[in-house]
Amino acid sequence: MLYGIISDIHGNLEAGIVVKEFLQRKGVEKILILGDIIGYGVNPEECIDVFDSMDVVFVKGNHEEAIITGDFDIFTTDAKISIEWTDKHFSSIYREKISEWKEVVEIDNLVLCHGGLIEPLYFYTNTRLKAKKTFEQFKFRYCFIGHTHFPMAFCISEGQDMPSIIAQEPDGSLHIILEEDKRYIINTGSVGQPRDGNPNACCGLFDSEKNIFELHRLRYPVEITAKKILDAGLPSSLASRISRGI
Ligand SMILES: [Fe+2]
Repeated sequence: MLYGIISDIHGNLEAGIVVKEFLQRKGVEKILILGDIIGYGVNPEECIDVFDSMDVVFVKGNHEEAIITGDFDIFTTDAKISIEWTDKHFSSIYREKISEWKEVVEIDNLVLCHGGLIEPLYFYTNTRLKAKKTFEQFKFRYCFIGHTHFPMAFCISEGQDMPSIIAQEPDGSLHIILEEDKRYIINTGSVGQPRDGNPNACCGLFDSEKNIFELHRLRYPVEITAKKILDAGLPSSLASRISRGI
């Protein structure tokens, strides 16, 4: 099966459209979205609608959880302003939709969650030690995550104490030949707000028959997205960070 695996679209419709069209061209059979479709950007509902015609599995992120619970206290200043904006512009139909999304999804021998299995919505799996703890939480061969907005992959063999990190290419992509005797945690980065210094949208492709994972970086018209953020009266830092990928 050829999967498209993406995360953290964050209301960025321009990036969402480019990623969706790329996945369609590649002929993916199923799209797995690892949470935080909403927050930060100004098109939360459209970013859900854009995948309407496709076979999609949605996972809940911490921004969806915040809208459902109304508790915004965990957020930093800019994130809080943006989630309050989203709260005002998010209709009841969409609230019902996100309420149905699960924190952890097991599908086709894959485990999906937003942050990490120890605390699915909030855990930052961004070090080898944290990856080790996450590996202890699942038995399947693959766990796909997002949340950090930083694409990264870990692998571990039977009997290996600490997981290894699989490095990004200089252009921010990942190309991994998945070995039969290893298990993997793969963070697919962020579609709408990458934070690894590369502003291009992150888009994962996983071929479960050929045992290959690729993370592609796609250019999109970021200046349009940034202008929409400014026009909505949201903090200018939210516009500038997507232009710089931080
Ligand atoms: Fe996020």
